[in-house]
Order: sequence, then C-alpha cells, then structure tokens
Amino acid sequence: MNASRGNWSSSFGFVLAAAGSAIGLGNIWRFPYTVGQYGGGAFVLVYLAFVALIGVPVLYAELSVGRSTQRSAVGAFKELVPDTWWPAVGGLGVLCGFGILSFYAVIAGLTLSYVYMAVLGRFTGGGLTGEQSAQVFSELTSNPVATVTLTGAFLLLTAWVVRGGIQGGIERAARILMPIFFGILLLLVMRAVTLDGAGEGLRFLFAFDFSKLTAAAIVSALGQALFSMSLGMGAMITYGSYLGRDENLPKAGITVAIFDTGLAMIAGLMIFPTLAYAGAEPTGGPPLIFIVMATIFDTMPLGSFFAVAFYGLLAIAALTSTISLLEVIVAYFVDERSWSRKKAVWSVTAACFALAVPSALSLGAVDFFTQMAGGQGFLGLANIVFGNYFLSIGAVFICLFVGWKWGVSSAVAEMNRGGQLFGAPLWGVLVRFVCPVAVLIVLVYAALTNSYL
Ligand code: TRP
Repeated sequence: MNASRGNWSSSFGFVLAAAGSAIGLGNIWRFPYTVGQYGGGAFVLVYLAFVALIGVPVLYAELSVGRSTQRSAVGAFKELVPDTWWPAVGGLGVLCGFGILSFYAVIAGLTLSYVYMAVLGRFTGGGLTGEQSAQVFSELTSNPVATVTLTGAFLLLTAWVVRGGIQGGIERAARILMPIFFGILLLLVMRAVTLDGAGEGLRFLFAFDFSKLTAAAIVSALGQALFSMSLGMGAMITYGSYLGRDENLPKAGITVAIFDTGLAMIAGLMIFPTLAYAGAEPTGGPPLIFIVMATIFDTMPLGSFFAVAFYGLLAIAALTSTISLLEVIVAYFVDERSWSRKKAVWSVTAACFALAVPSALSLGAVDFFTQMAGGQGFLGLANIVFGNYFLSIGAVFICLFVGWKWGVSSAVAEMNRGGQLFGAPLWGVLVRFVCPVAVLIVLVYAALTNSYL
C-alpha cells in the first residue's frame, strides 16, 4: 500500500467525509422538489425501496473494491483485473465526476449569493411576494458575470480544501462542517414542525397517493437514490480506498446510507411544513428552495436569522459534496499519472471551470445555452447526461464487475476483514441479479421514452 496517498484517521473520519459527500444539494434541493413534482408519499416510498435494494448493495460494491485495492476509480480495476477493458468503467466514472462537478458548482454558487442576500436582509423586513422572489432569482441567474463568478468562487473553495489532502483537507473540512450542518438543520426542523399548518405539510410527505406514481416518477426515484448516495461513478471507490484495512466497512457503509436517507427525509420535514405554513405549493420544480423558500422567512419570528441559517446549510451541504467530486478526479491523476496533488487540483479545477461556464450561462444569461436541448438548457442537459445516464450505466457495470468478474466471495471477504456483513448471501443476489437488471430496465425505459427529458 502506498502510504503517501493518504488515508482517513479512523472509520469515524471516513463516515463524516462520506456522509458529507452523500448529503448535498441532492438531499436538500433535488429531493424536495422531485417529491413535490411526483406528488409526495408514494414517490418517497419507491425512493426508500430503491435505497435499500439498489443503493446499499452498490455502495458496498464500491467500497469493497476501493478498500481492497487502495487505488483510485481507474487504478482499482487495473489492480484487480489488469489488461482488460474494465478500467474504462473507472474512466467513465472520472469523466462523469467531472461532468457532475461542472453543473453542481453552478447551483452551489447560487447558494453563496443567497447566503449573502440573506445576510443583507433581502428576504425580511417587509419580505418578498412570490413574484418579487422569482424576479430576484431570475435577475441573479440571468446575470452572466454573477453566475460565472459565483461558480468560479465555489470551485476555488472546493479546490482549496482538496489541495489539503485526505486528512488535512477533506477530513478536516468534514469534521468542522458536518457538526455545524447538523446543528443548523436541527434548529430549522424544530422551527418548521412547530409552525402553524405543519401537519398539512407532513401529510403531503407521508400520504401515499399511488395514482401519481407514473413510470417517470419511478425512473426519477432511482436516479435520485444513486445521485444522493454518490454512487455509480467511483466516488465511493475512491473514498473507500482511504479506509484502513481493519476498519469495520459494513458498519461504516450502512451508517453513511442511513445518514443520507435520514437526511433527505429530514429535509422534507423542514421544507414541506414550511411551505404549508406559507400556503405555498410544493410543486415549484427546481427553483423551489430558492424562489419559494425566500418568500417565507419574513413571515416567521427571527426570520432573517433562519434565512441565513437555511442558505448557509445549503452551501455547506454542497461544499462537502463538490469536495468528493473533485477528489475522484484528482485521485486519478495522482495515482495513475503520478501528478502532484497540487498540480492535479489546479489543472482539474481550471478545466472544470471551463466546462461549467456554459452551464452558468444557461440559466437565462445566454439564450443559446438556456434554450438548447429542447429548453433544458446546457445545465439541464449536463444533469441528464452525467447525473442520470452516466451514473446508471456506471452502477450497472460496477455491479456486473463485483458480482460476476471479481466475485461476490472476494468482496465479502474484503468487507468481513474488520466487521461482518449482515445478510451476505442476500447481498450477493442483489448485486449479481437484482441491481443490474433493475437499473438496466429503468435505463432502457428512460432512454426509449425520453423520461429524463
Ligand atoms: N450525493 C451528492 C448530493 O446528494 C452529490 C454527489 C457528490 C455525487 N458526489 C457524487 C453524486 C458522486 C453522484 C456521484 O448532492
């Protein structure tokens, strides 16, 4: 094992960093608006089923590959099956991370601006009507200088942390940011569930109206499960590669899964009661948490405090996720190309910024980028290509690799080094058959019906 590549100080350090990766805009931004779009409880139920039957097995597959080889997403395959085409699966993952980071950083950049506006008190002291709030949002997103600068700033922040290495950069950031994150979240949830009308919001989250469960909803629930747990592109191979050989991998893995899923639910507990309190519709789509939430703070006591806390929470969640996306790519150049960490971090960040610019300009600033791909825009297209297709394809290959090539017994032996995988035979069946088949069906269906579009 190559000691100079770094490692987590303990499995607790790993859990914090991996939970930081998993918990992100996917939980607080994407999950609530997709639940809103697909009508609430029934979608949530399908999502939970996918997490248990597909997310957790794939998570274990990735972590065991990573820890057993102690290499990056590409190197891991090279180590286990040299001279085959399998490392290309890792390569696809690195590319996918690059693509996701490029659009994720744009939304993350917007959160910085909302923190700033919240600090200036723009959402309180008279408040904003729905229309005014929509206008604040579109003024921001159609300003090319603002969106490009904010994206660049967020990438720089990410690069600065990743530059510090595994323990000194990524783990340290997680140790500082995650407790702050949980503290703020607790406060916001307590505020939300004690608002008038909270019950109605909760009913929306938990009411099972199966008539709303369209095929598109099911496709979306699977994409959401993979995205939210940071699966399908080798992020967990990479994070697993820094985990010590004697640490309890099954326990660390399930802890991360529980944190991530619990957090999506808690984000729901925070958002839906707040929407119900303000009489706002939960079906607002992607700008939900920016446009709708911004109108709400003025109506509650200590609103300006909660506004800063809410957007700060989003920014922190996004940062610990962009860190993991960047680390996957950096680890590849460090391990496979022998670049110094510093060189890898700055070159990858610069290249990613270049790909992020059209996304940053596609929220209204430049018509060409805004309207392309049938109105999805460049960012929407990047989200579909990388965030849906690449991730699902990657997940299928990782399952096929672990289930049929490397072998379930090798993976289970790896996981059982410092712990005990509960239900190992079941896990074997899930990675060999259930996961690849289910993901493939959803993928083909989505491609044929353009459900992602
Ligand atoms: N899981 C993160 C979120 O929910 C996003 C993310 C970070 C991610 N790293 C990833 C998604 C790797 C897919 C793959 O916001």
